[in-house]
Amino acid sequence: MKGVGKFGEVMAGEKGKVSYDELAARLEKIIRSGSQRKAITDFVCRELRKIPHYTWVGIYAVDGTDLVLASSSGPAATQHTRIPVGEGICGAAVVAREAILVPDVNADPRYLQCFLNTRSEIVVPIMKDGTPVAEIDIDSDQLDAFTPNDQEFLGCVAEELARIL
Ligand code: SME
Repeated sequence: MKGVGKFGEVMAGEKGKVSYDELAARLEKIIRSGSQRKAITDFVCRELRKIPHYTWVGIYAVDGTDLVLASSSGPAATQHTRIPVGEGICGAAVVAREAILVPDVNADPRYLQCFLNTRSEIVVPIMKDGTPVAEIDIDSDQLDAFTPNDQEFLGCVAEELARIL
């Protein structure tokens, strides 16, 4: 995966220590394993959630004019399993064709609320031949949780996932 070896920081959190690089290597292995798509996206969500500030992780697939939840991992299920393109931060990222970082969800009128404890969110589109085919959506219970390193790391994961989606 592009970028492996440069996301080197190791964080200590309540979920233990996590290395972005070790995680990237594990993700690359499973994404290239030839396993079924759904098994891969489920695994990617579960693995990403090991990062301490990633509270809820989902992968939405673009289905016509909607986004449909394909896989997720988190303490609770979201009621937003289908989101029209253009609605919410999720829909806005598909229209923008680029990542959107929201440091404070309560200050962004586009935000569609799922969980009361969410404070910040990042959405990274998965592009195939210049078109968004899916996206990674992550909620954090910390304000301003996502860094440019998260954006770059998730951009590489998205590029890797584009191989199989
Ligand atoms: N907050 C998202 C909706 C999806 S949930 O976070 C799982 C949005 O504003 O699009």
